[in-house]
Amino acid sequence: MTENVISLKNVSKCFKRYDRPGDRLKEIIYPTKKLADEFWALHDINLEIAQGQTLGVVGRNGSGKSTLLQIIVGTLTPTAGSVQVKGRVSALLELGSGFNPEFTGRQNVFFNAQILGFNHKETAEKFDEIAAFADIGDFIDQPVKTYSSGMFVRLAFAVATSVEPDILVVDEALSVGDEAFQRKCFARLQSIQEGGGTILFVSHAATSVVQLCTSAILMDSGELLLAHTPKVVISKYQKLIYADPDRVLELKSDIRVLNQLTKQESEKTLQDVNLDSTKTEVEPEQYLSQPKEHYDEFFDPGMIPSNTVRYPSRGAEIINPHIETLKGNVVNHLLGRQDYVYTYSVTFSRSTSKVRFGMLIKTISGFELAGASLKASSQSVRYVEAGTTIVVKFQFKCLLNPGVYFLNAGVVGTVDGDLSYLDRCVDVAMFRVQSCTESCGNGIVDLLIEPCLTVVIDSDWLVKEQSTEAL
Ligand SMILES: Nc1ncnc2c1ncn2[C@@H]1O[C@H](COP(=O)(O)OP(=O)(O)O)[C@@H](O)[C@H]1O
Ligand SMILES: [Mg+2]
Repeated sequence: MTENVISLKNVSKCFKRYDRPGDRLKEIIYPTKKLADEFWALHDINLEIAQGQTLGVVGRNGSGKSTLLQIIVGTLTPTAGSVQVKGRVSALLELGSGFNPEFTGRQNVFFNAQILGFNHKETAEKFDEIAAFADIGDFIDQPVKTYSSGMFVRLAFAVATSVEPDILVVDEALSVGDEAFQRKCFARLQSIQEGGGTILFVSHAATSVVQLCTSAILMDSGELLLAHTPKVVISKYQKLIYADPDRVLELKSDIRVLNQLTKQESEKTLQDVNLDSTKTEVEPEQYLSQPKEHYDEFFDPGMIPSNTVRYPSRGAEIINPHIETLKGNVVNHLLGRQDYVYTYSVTFSRSTSKVRFGMLIKTISGFELAGASLKASSQSVRYVEAGTTIVVKFQFKCLLNPGVYFLNAGVVGTVDGDLSYLDRCVDVAMFRVQSCTESCGNGIVDLLIEPCLTVVIDSDWLVKEQSTEAL
């Protein structure tokens, strides 16, 4: 079995909060006086992380994610419980930690690498690669206090990942960099994964967690509410953040039940495996993915196309293109084989005739999968007055296999006798189709394929078998 490299047993963390700065000192001098409010940022956390796992940590602000990571990294000690961490840990914590603002970038690289156990010569060998990855030009020889937050993260990420860590901890840092840099970082995280490294990754970006992580946990008010697959954890997290305040408690207790069931199922699977002496190894993913996955529709605000093209408007503007369920909930994580509505509004700033609306769904590589445009003869709107807004809805059945898809929207009409696009947006929204339990399909389009098996028995063989039995 893969070795656990991080193990937390009944870990709790209490912070003392003082109303006045002097109270902390007073309490040390007069230990019987209790001047602090105790605040429990973590309650009884149990967590095992196997080597090679990438654990996503999600939860609302203040839920204890950073406290948990700092306890694992060793910059905080737990108030109760025990922590075991095996291997070299490199951490990219909140902005600013680990760098001395008065030193230059170059000096900080050497300083940090030394803390991580590299000598001057080893760091000098790595330096060019680190500087190239950070790509901050001459700023490398400027004091770090002059850096923008983007530069800071570039250098911090370059250092943290270049030192070949056994365990890499990344706390929300990547949301600061631009998209191109983020892609570069993800590629590097993937190469750490391929090398068997273990990663702990705090992020609000649901898509990153689902794509990168092998498992995930959901923290809430210092409690480890759920440990499950990234998809399930993200789906519950999204439900929690968008829930009505009076539904939160109910939702949390539902999530606790799911967590308990998952734990029982994985313990049972482990027991079964231990009983079966022919199977000596079980990958963590194997038993984590055993419990049935609960896919839900939801909206991930971080899922925004990075390559939207808007053509110049000619008298109309397409507003808020998005997908809704039939009940009107906005979603961008869809379920296969369900009905949805792709909708947008169009506001006309000029009077226009013969107006028609269109849509298109494409794959990531830009292949045009399906579209619709209202027929010129029967479905165009004969005349639209300036100042009018029209809401356009295209209902469709999501007959697509799991994957990410992109949407276009367009409106054409006749202005001054010319038929032309009045507004047109390319890759204006995107959505993910999640697995549908009934489908066994693959490829892009779900043709509702139903497999059917017929066993054909060779009659000669049957006769021979029977005669052998008769002997
Ligand atoms: N040094 C500290 N002193 C007092 N309270 C703290 C300290 N660090 C964190 N907290 C509190 O602990 C809770 C969890 O914080 P944190 O782990 O940073 O949450 P997250 O990273 O999930 O946003 C918050 O309510 C925060 O105010
Ligand atoms: Mg935090």
